[in-house]
Amino acid sequence: MIWVFVLIGGLLICFCGVLLVGAPYVPTLKPQVAAALELADLKAGQTLLELGCGDGKVLIAAAQQGIQVVGYELNPILALIAWLRTRRYGPQVHVIWGNFWQRPWPQAEAIFVFLLPKYMPKLDKKCMQYAHSPIKLVSFAFEVPNKKPVRQKAGLYLYAYS
Ligand SMILES: C[S@@+](CC[C@H](N)C(=O)[O-])C[C@H]1O[C@@H](n2cnc3c(N)ncnc32)[C@H](O)[C@@H]1O
Repeated sequence: MIWVFVLIGGLLICFCGVLLVGAPYVPTLKPQVAAALELADLKAGQTLLELGCGDGKVLIAAAQQGIQVVGYELNPILALIAWLRTRRYGPQVHVIWGNFWQRPWPQAEAIFVFLLPKYMPKLDKKCMQYAHSPIKLVSFAFEVPNKKPVRQKAGLYLYAYS
């Protein structure tokens, strides 16, 4: 019987613990995934960085277009699912289990996020520090405060940093 409590406790830690540093797991819907990739407008071989990659849905859609992808995910269960789901793409997809606020961000042409409003100012600051070369930020659902999006589509906002 104790294993039931251990299991429930473990799941709660994995899925609720992330609330201390980021958004909970809510997957982006398929039409929005397609719209996000359209806004990011990357060519095959370019790199998309996903901050909080969940179950790997966006990574897979991007990889199918020939895009290199790196996804950070803090929830170990989701990180494992994303890794398993993207294994077939080999080195084209890199899933990293960890807190993206505390890890180095690899060179990328675009970033995709689905976070929470309270993290958007911090994300904006990080993007400004990170943008050694021009970079696009695509945010689902939430805007960067005091910054004008270059484009909007289906609840997604595209920002340009340089
Ligand atoms: C709203 S969900 C979006 C999932 C996925 N990006 C999608 O669009 O389907 C946010 C994800 O970010 C992860 N996350 C939140 N904060 C994080 C952090 N600081 N580091 C790594 N992952 C984080 C959560 O575990 C969750 O899976």
